[in-house]
Amino acid sequence: MKKKVLVTYNMFRSGYAELVEKYDVTFPPDGAESFTYEEVLRMIPEYDALQSMFNFPVDKQLMDAGVKLKIISNYAVGYDNIDIPYATQKGIQVTNTPDPVTEPTADQAMGLLLAVSRRISELDRRLRVGEVKVGLLENLGHSLYGGTIGIIGMGRIGQALARRAVAAGMKIVYCNRHRVAETIEDKYKAVYLSLDELLRVSDVVSVNAPYTTETYHLIGERELSLMKPTSILINTARGPLVDEKALVKALREKVIWGAGLDVFEFGDYPSEELLSMDNVVLNPHTGTQTFEVRNEMAAFVSRNIIHFFEGGPVAKVNHID
Ligand code: GLV
Repeated sequence: MKKKVLVTYNMFRSGYAELVEKYDVTFPPDGAESFTYEEVLRMIPEYDALQSMFNFPVDKQLMDAGVKLKIISNYAVGYDNIDIPYATQKGIQVTNTPDPVTEPTADQAMGLLLAVSRRISELDRRLRVGEVKVGLLENLGHSLYGGTIGIIGMGRIGQALARRAVAAGMKIVYCNRHRVAETIEDKYKAVYLSLDELLRVSDVVSVNAPYTTETYHLIGERELSLMKPTSILINTARGPLVDEKALVKALREKVIWGAGLDVFEFGDYPSEELLSMDNVVLNPHTGTQTFEVRNEMAAFVSRNIIHFFEGGPVAKVNHID
């Protein structure tokens, strides 16, 4: 009998072609964005594999109901939506999608950085309503060339951002759980610093770390106070890495100059305070939101499932062998 795969979110079908060819795949009905948690809970006992999304909770209750469940293939690089220790305890393999998300997320970080430093969104908004005064000392931003970017989390996305920042003429400093290989440091002339040192010397700080209990509020009031008043904070990782209330205060009191956020602490939408500020550029978690990447991610999650059942490389986030 064919294996059964449950896909929680509707997505272009083309990325799932290989999966559909091999297995019995259930997608949410046409017109629905996704199955609800309750629907998945009801259906999961029948399924061998679950394809989850970065914002769909996969908790103990769901895994206990998944009596046949062998693999959770997350449609994201981040997997903070999944109870990993419990999946490991139950012998359920969890996989993610590092390859397709690396470059688009780094693009998004670079895009936000350019937009904040040169006030692109703000000036576009003001121009449209006739609020822009033109003059050589009006509408000033900050140069990136010659500045220092501090990358917090020098994994794949951090390195892809470093490549872009080097091309823009920036110096790279980074902090990470551990120092990266010398070949990588040499490639970007990247200097390893403690978080506090990084915050003090950087003109731009980009958060590119996973969300775990250790990284919750990694950037809070104390950390923001160490940053330069001309500096910019970029977050394309997960909202709760930054204490959003402390960030609002820092932006309002000009402790830092600006911020570019693709993710928010309290759900999918920014707070009213953030929406009212001009020195922030806000995007609705669109770091991987391109036509191309949506299909690449679907193909990658499919391949993780196929390889898990049939043999082949799998992007494991918990190690079950
Ligand atoms: C997106 O946020 C991802 O984790 O891939």
